Amino acid sequence: IKYTIVDKDTCIACGACGLAAPDIYDYDDEGLAYVIIDENKGVQEIPDELEDDVIDAFEGCPSESIKISDQPFHGKPLRFE
Ligand code: F3S
Repeated sequence: IKYTIVDKDTCIACGACGLAAPDIYDYDDEGLAYVIIDENKGVQEIPDELEDDVIDAFEGCPSESIKISDQPFHGKPLRFE
């Protein structure tokens, strides 16, 4: 995987992703998650050493709002669905 993005339309602000990958995900004023490294555009390559954290977050999100892909999302979380 190289890219990640949060679907803020389905995020329920559970707060798990920021624990799993604190260098990748943070929360806005409403507690909804976003990707720090590219302001949730899904265009910035994830550093290799953070990839496992991102996979943990992906697997742990209860609403399947964490998206991951080998290709950039260009701001569209549902681009590959
Ligand atoms: Fe939201 Fe899932 Fe993170 S519900 S806060 S994107 S773990």
